[in-house]
Amino acid sequence: MPSSTTRRQFVARSAGVSLAALLPQGVFSDSSVAQSVVVRPVSEIGTVRPEMHSHFAEHLGSCVYGGLWVGKGSRIPNVNGYRKAAVDYLKELGIPVLRWPGGCYADNYHWRDGIGPVEKRPKRVNANWNNAMEDGSFGLHEFIGLCRLIGAEPYLSVNVGSGTAQEALDWIEYCNFPKGTTLSDERIANGAPEPFQVQYWGVGNEAWGCGGNMTPDHYADVYRQFATYMKSFGGTRSFLVACGPSGNNTQWTKGFFDRMQGTRVSLGAFAMHYYENGSLAPTAYNADAMNRQLTTFQLVEQAIVAQRAQIDAYNRQPRVGLILDEWGVWDRLNGPEQQRYGQLWQQSTMRSAVAAGLGLNIFNRHAEKLFMCNIAQIANVLQSVLLTDGPQGEHCIRTTTYHAFALFKAHRSKMAVKVENAATGPLDLSVSASKSGVELIVSLVNPKADTDVRVECSLDGKTAKSASARILHHKDLNAANTFESPDTIVPVAHPVQAAGSSIRLDLPALSVATVAVQLG
Ligand code: AHR
Repeated sequence: MPSSTTRRQFVARSAGVSLAALLPQGVFSDSSVAQSVVVRPVSEIGTVRPEMHSHFAEHLGSCVYGGLWVGKGSRIPNVNGYRKAAVDYLKELGIPVLRWPGGCYADNYHWRDGIGPVEKRPKRVNANWNNAMEDGSFGLHEFIGLCRLIGAEPYLSVNVGSGTAQEALDWIEYCNFPKGTTLSDERIANGAPEPFQVQYWGVGNEAWGCGGNMTPDHYADVYRQFATYMKSFGGTRSFLVACGPSGNNTQWTKGFFDRMQGTRVSLGAFAMHYYENGSLAPTAYNADAMNRQLTTFQLVEQAIVAQRAQIDAYNRQPRVGLILDEWGVWDRLNGPEQQRYGQLWQQSTMRSAVAAGLGLNIFNRHAEKLFMCNIAQIANVLQSVLLTDGPQGEHCIRTTTYHAFALFKAHRSKMAVKVENAATGPLDLSVSASKSGVELIVSLVNPKADTDVRVECSLDGKTAKSASARILHHKDLNAANTFESPDTIVPVAHPVQAAGSSIRLDLPALSVATVAVQLG
């Protein structure tokens, strides 16, 4: 069966099923194609770990200061210094894991600078990011407090580039040792009687770049040294994450794992960074530039497959997890917004939502290969889910990326199942599915700027008793939620037809949709 037909052919074949009649007037253009996909509810891939929907917060621009944290005395509504609107929105979305304090900043940061009475904390220069003054007022206790408020597991990135193994070991002891040692008693004196129970520990960040400009051999030796001392305390197992490659750099992975052969030091996961770079300013894209950027996701998918295979070939036990520690669209950033709102502040548009959907679909389709994925970053930096109008600004809005993540939330903890989709081009309809009991969740992304898709999705012989859908869509790829108009693009209910062992829906150009199907 051809994977695509013209709209006229599809309508004729659909024998009287007029989906167009269900759609709001004017939503669908004449340049549409039909697309058949098959979801196989019994072909299991792996669990969609909620951790694949995780986030990252760095001391950079207005991500932390002025974004998540406004301080206790602020006129901006806050909960003990945390921006109230941000807390509310993040709680609603659900943040499985939050990585902190960097990024590049992590290899500059000495954790003791962020504990104890705020007025006594040293003032430092954030040398990675604009030489910003860092007063340490958002430190470890404030970070753990935020995680507790929003229900996130903390993930601490340890300073390897300019720190020591002793400093790393002390940080774990301070966090996780119950009581009775000088460090654990210091934590208690600082107001935290219970251990923080931090599981995730990143051993450096981008060791091949801002984290020390190391060779893979050298980093592996440093990793071995740090991992020897980064112990577990108080019943919380320290899960250690090594720096993986930039993109699909297999030489880095080979160099690291070759050098790790024969060692028994703990290695929980290996973390790749893969940004989807773009050539234009966030709200000034054209279709060509968007297509070039979105095409990168095909390379991300290849990287996940290649890195997973490369790691598995070393057969380390237990299996080393693959983490996509930083990902997201990184547009051309300059100009007044950086001055006004903070470094790497980036508007999230309909294009960004499509990008988020493409990424999240890939993670579902490779669920058995991935341990965690952290989009960069959670607020005001790159592809963030929240934007505020600068450090002093009262506005806090949910971006299109926030809403794309919300549409994928239903997949969390479900079993990803196989989808057969004959259209495999990087800009073709992208589909993923997951299942739990009789509930089947199907996510579809139409990344094309000007082609609507009429989808017939076969359920491989299973019957759809009912189906409902929500969609995020705007016909302008540069449209965005702004401070003046924060709900320009939000998910809305969308027509879908449960037709025996198929579901049918129309996806306008530039859309992200999730369908919940009750199987018979
Ligand atoms: O997310 C911004 C920066 O990108 C991070 O600090 C670094 O790890 C990466 O290069």
